Formats: sequence, C-alpha cells, structure tokens
Amino acid sequence: MIKENAQKLLNDAAKKAKIDGTFSVGFSALPKLCDFQCNSCFALAKKLGKAPFEIAEEIVKNIGKNEDFVFSVAKPAFINISLTQNGQKKLALEVEKQGKEKQEKKQTIFIDYGGPNIGKAMHIGHMRSFNIGEAFKRLYKKLGYKVISDIFLGDWGMPMGLIMALLEKENRLDDFLSGKEKVTIEVMNYAYPKASRIKEEDETFKKRAEELTLAFQRKQQPYFDFWKELRRVSVEEIKKVCKGINVDFDLWNGESNASEYIETVINIFKDKGLAYISEGALVVDVAEEGEQIPIPKKSENEPQRYENPMPPLMIQKSNGGELYATSDIATIYYRNKFYHPDIIHYFTDARQSQRFTQIFRACKKAGISPIDQLLWHTGFGTLNGKDGKALKTRNGGNVALSDLLEMLYEKAGQKLEQNGTQYDDDLKRMIGNAALKFADLSNTVEKDYIFDLDRFTSFEGKTGPYIQYTACRIKSILAKAGKFENRFDFYTDEQKDVLISLSKLEESYDQAFIEKSLSGICSTLYDLAKNFSSFYNSEHILSEEDEKKKQTKLSLSKLTLDAISRACEVLAIELPDKM
Ligand code: ARG
Repeated sequence: MIKENAQKLLNDAAKKAKIDGTFSVGFSALPKLCDFQCNSCFALAKKLGKAPFEIAEEIVKNIGKNEDFVFSVAKPAFINISLTQNGQKKLALEVEKQGKEKQEKKQTIFIDYGGPNIGKAMHIGHMRSFNIGEAFKRLYKKLGYKVISDIFLGDWGMPMGLIMALLEKENRLDDFLSGKEKVTIEVMNYAYPKASRIKEEDETFKKRAEELTLAFQRKQQPYFDFWKELRRVSVEEIKKVCKGINVDFDLWNGESNASEYIETVINIFKDKGLAYISEGALVVDVAEEGEQIPIPKKSENEPQRYENPMPPLMIQKSNGGELYATSDIATIYYRNKFYHPDIIHYFTDARQSQRFTQIFRACKKAGISPIDQLLWHTGFGTLNGKDGKALKTRNGGNVALSDLLEMLYEKAGQKLEQNGTQYDDDLKRMIGNAALKFADLSNTVEKDYIFDLDRFTSFEGKTGPYIQYTACRIKSILAKAGKFENRFDFYTDEQKDVLISLSKLEESYDQAFIEKSLSGICSTLYDLAKNFSSFYNSEHILSEEDEKKKQTKLSLSKLTLDAISRACEVLAIELPDKM
C-alpha cells in the first residue's frame, strides 16, 4: 500500500543512516502542505540524543530513489511527504482495488439490536438502536465477518397480558379467542395504552393481567395461541417499519425463545455455587475485586456499605417469576449452543450499561460465555429536544417512532418542493431516512444529541441529504458522459484532495471497527463529498476539451460515486437518482 511504501522508504533510510528507531506515516494534518507526514522524529530525539530536526534531515538525505513521493523536512521536525503524479496514479488504483476486495474472516459476530416490545408502539430509543445496530451489522459484513443479527423482541412480558386483560374487561376476549374477532395492530394500539393506564389505578386489573401473563408464559391454552397471534400481527407491523428504514434481521427471536433455557441457566448458577438467596430472590455476585471497597462504618449496627460496587444480579424473583436479565443470560446460553459466536454485540440505550456489565460478568463466571468470547455493549445517548432535554411528546411520553419518521418525511418533502424537484413518497422516505441516520451515526455514540429537523434535512452542510445530493450530481455527470476510458493522471490540487479523501474513507472502516464508532466514517464521507464539490465547482468535467484530462476527471468521479455508494451501503442510506 502506498502509505506503507512511504513508511518503508523512511525505515530503510533510517537503517542506511544507522538511526535506531521506527518511523510511521499518517495522513497529513495540513493537506495544503503535503499528503502524508511522519512525526516520529520528536519521540526519538531523547533516545538518540540528537535534535529532532537533525534526525529528520538525516533520514530525508538517505531516502532512496523513488518515483512516488517527494520528501522534505519542515520545522520543527516533521517529515512531509507529497505524492508525485506517479504516486497519485498508484493511490487511485489502490483505492479502486480496495473497493472491490473483501477479506473473509473466520469469526462470527452475533449482533443484537432494535429490541422493540411487541404490543407497544415503538419509540425513538428503538430507532437509535435500529440505526446504529444496522450500520454495525453492515460494517462487520463489509469487513468480512460472518454476521448473525437478531432483533431480540420484548415478547414475553406483561404488555400481552395487559392487552388480554383489557379485552376481557370489555367482554371481547372470548370473541378473539374463538376467532370471531381478528387481532389487528389497531386493536393492540388501542388496548395497550388503555390497559397500562387502568393498571396504575386498579389493583385487581393488574393482578388479572399478571395472571394472564403467567398463563401464556406457561403455554396454557387458549392464551398461548392468542399470544402467538398477537406476536405474529405485531411482528408483521415491525417488519413493515423496519423495511421502510432499511433494517433487516436474520432472526426475529425474542425473550420468548429464551424461556425454555431459563431453568437450565439458573441451575448452572446453583450447581456452581454462584447463586444465593437474598431477600427471597436468587442473586449472583458480580462485583469484581477492588470494587468492593468497604466504607468505614460510623456505628456498630450500621450495615456494611461499599464504594461503587457492582450490585449483585437478581436471576430469579421471590415469586419465581422470570426476569429480563435472566432471559438475556438464557439467550446467551442458547446462542452459544447453536451459533458459537466469537463476539456478541448489543446496542441499547446507555441506561442499560450497568445491567449488561452485570449480565456479562455473570455469564463469564458461570462459563455460559466461553473465556475467549467477547461480549460488547454499545450504549447510546438520548435524542434531545432543542431545550436539551430528552425529546418527549406534549404530555411527557416517548415520541412514537412513526411520528418521528412522519416529521422527517414531511420536512424532506418541503425541501424537495423548495428545490422544485418532482417527488413521490419513496423519495421523501429516502431523504428523511438519510437525514436521521447520518445525524444519528455522525455523533459520538454514547453522547446525547439534539434533534434539529431543519439542519438534518438540509441539502447543504454535514448532512445525509448533502451526501445523497453529491451522489446524484455524479450520477448525472456519468449518465451524460456515456462510455469513457479509465485514466488516472491527476493535475490539480482539487483532484488530489478528492483522491486523498477517497483513501481515507477506505481506511475508516477498519478504524470504525477498532473504535466501535461510525462517526469517523461519516466525517470522512462528508470530507469526500465536500472535496468533490470543490473539484466540481472549479473545473469543467463534461466540457473539458482535452480528452485525456476529461477521462481522468470522469474516472475520478466514478471512483467517488462508487466509494460514496459503499459507505452509504454501510450506513444503510439509500442513494436516489435525483433530488
Ligand atoms: N426490549 C428492550 C427495551 O425495549 C430492549 C432489548 C435490548 N436487547 C437486549 N438483548 N436486552 O428496552
């Protein structure tokens, strides 16, 4: 690789000059000055007992003949490296090749995201998990991992019991059980919110909902079949929403699939002597050494307190009921039994972070997760309103995902209107999705961010629609150009800037894997789009008279479009043909 070639030349020169040290090369921090740079001389100065500038000069003096780079020393002791035209051509071919190749890896990554609860309307929290999880899934695939994705539905808890209890209260349950009335998403959307309101005031109703929950959990008929029907209808609806935002899963499992393994995992903890009864519930200690720092007691009968210890994890309630944490543990158990993943990666709201730490530790202690298996949790921040507080509806509830999408699509429609572009629902959807996804993925995952509809949907600036707009522009150039010969003879700084950002984009995928963050991909993608626009604005492409120059410009445009397409494939952003 080109960058590594420059590095090798430096290290060969060091050997020749008998300088004992390794030199590394990165992209230039000042692209106007050079393309790559080496900062290694500073750190080596002390060790070698020489001034950093002197080291840099000696190295550069000893660089062998090469036709790809020009090396120079800049104060205080940087080695600046610029690509020659030959080097630029090589880099372009390298980028072209990188885009085509994929190195298959042996590891399997199991990824768990989305996690909507059936029977309840989805909200913004699910949206963030969908967006981030989906992009990671695609990134892992691009990097050559085997990937299995699971939506992990909340399908085994109280909401279904509440729906049943409400229908029963309204004397409609029998009609549903007998099939006289059909379950629809409207029925569920009506019943769940009403039932959860009644539950708050009516203890008998709440008890009945719990009974009905237990009934389907114990596979008691006709409740179990009715639960299945509720689940089926709900999943159908979730699938529709997912399709609209380019999200898909290999497995549509959920808490219910874990239920048959709950007893097994509880027994593992018991058999290994890891579980004990505390206040009637079964718990497992998950604090690690050093965390259990005792706080000195002020009086003899005060209970012992600890500083920041990880609280024990409850795995069974005092009434024997199933717990959310235990179903996650049982899920890890059966995922390992059937799929043997090397890594399991979860995406949820950051407020679940401690819970996942507890679950992971418990699984490691009990050997439910093999020692060498990696368990990762990415906790994301909340989507805030302009007041800096979590985005809520007027009456303080979570904003429904469908309302959020509706707002985005409508705004996207207005922008298209302003541009005088003819559009349909699908185009609005593509742009609205891109606006949200790009904003969602550009931000540091764990940070909260502010939902700014106008800014997100803008066709200018660091936004999804701007990326789409750039791609549209290139598509139209290429369509008008027709067939052309591939050529990479660059002449201008604008062209080279595009080339360098292309190379950076190719590198950003591995970096995203290391950092477990997609924001680097987004910003490099944005730089690429911006640099392409400068190139487009300062040079004539289609009307270029010199045939060879025109070929280069078109080849560079094609390279850019392909790179944008690949990046958008990872981010799950669609590229329309016009906007
Ligand atoms: N159903 C949960 C919720 O709505 C999210 C599930 C997260 N994934 C998991 N494996 N626990 O909060």
